[in-house]
Amino acid sequence: MENKNIVIACDHAGFDYKNDLIKYLEAKGYNMTDVGTYSPESCDYPIPVHRLCEKITSDECPRGILICGTGIGVSIAANKHPGIRAALCGDKYSAEMTRQHNNANVLCMGARVISFELACEITDIFLATPALDEERHRRRVKMIEDLEKGVFDEANYN
Ligand code: RB5
Repeated sequence: MENKNIVIACDHAGFDYKNDLIKYLEAKGYNMTDVGTYSPESCDYPIPVHRLCEKITSDECPRGILICGTGIGVSIAANKHPGIRAALCGDKYSAEMTRQHNNANVLCMGARVISFELACEITDIFLATPALDEERHRRRVKMIEDLEKGVFDEANYN
């Protein structure tokens, strides 16, 4: 990926993984923007999620990484933001497919679910895999955008 600006966020459950992933990705030449949380104290994950989504939708960063205990809360919150396609991945195959087929722009992971080593491998694949330039995938992502805009009409797609 040419643009190496990555935004990362977590809640308290993902705090250690976030800090270690920042070091891991900086060593690989990525420019990391950390939007919190900044301590292991309990916090409400929608707040750092919202900060991260603003960095993506403002085009400051093309990709984001979110970590909480399961990855579920952050993915649900992120996907409420128009323009965000957040994918919860616990395996390498899903990370590859969600870039190729869904053009996902945010990777979500659960620090209480997968090892840090697997989180690094999933992250590597997510950041290295381009979206497939195929009409059927573009059409499906456009349908998701129509859903966000409230203009989804099944009749338009037949
Ligand atoms: C925090 O205990 C936990 O609920 C949170 O990290 C996340 O797993 C929520 O989906």
